[in-house]
Amino acid sequence: WRLIVAGLLGGYLLGSIPFGYLFTRLAGLGDIRSIGSGNIGATNVLRTGRKGLALATVLADGLKGTLAVLIAMQFGPIAAVSAGMGAFLGHLFPVWLKFRGGKGVATYIGILLGLYPPAVLVFAAIWILVAYLTRYSSLAALLATLATPAVLWSFDKPLLALLFVALTALVYIRHWQNIIRLMAGTESRIGAKKT
Ligand code: G3P
Repeated sequence: WRLIVAGLLGGYLLGSIPFGYLFTRLAGLGDIRSIGSGNIGATNVLRTGRKGLALATVLADGLKGTLAVLIAMQFGPIAAVSAGMGAFLGHLFPVWLKFRGGKGVATYIGILLGLYPPAVLVFAAIWILVAYLTRYSSLAALLATLATPAVLWSFDKPLLALLFVALTALVYIRHWQNIIRLMAGTESRIGAKKT
């Protein structure tokens, strides 16, 4: 139990650092939450027109998940899975932003990279294909995260599959507005500046 609690807390602390918010603030772009979709993630940072900042955001939001998992891994797989969950919850519900954080996609990939790198290849392939064909970042994420638990299961990783079922459910909950926009045909595409 101690490992679970320590993993959750340590992961939460790392995951709750809102890089997209910090980078855009430091760059003098104001509050990212008042731009585009209002999200603090890399897709929305890209809507400011600053590609470098968007890249930095996806990397930092991803690597905080990887780091949380890799540190916790030293204490065993239960700690690592707990830290992954903690980091994800930290990104989605950061205490520093009154618990209103991001949608979790970059952090999801980072956690997956730390726990089972081969699955990242499948995730990336689906994401890139869907994003290339449709230009919808949200749809790419929704399909790639839907496939991930099944991929982990097929690689005979039941504990990880279970963790990612939970993470995917949270991704869907955080994307409900995107899902509504996708169904209405009003979702903004990558490359478009406004929602
Ligand atoms: O990764 C986030 C993406 O799926 C949606 O972001 O800003 O278009 O709501 P956004």
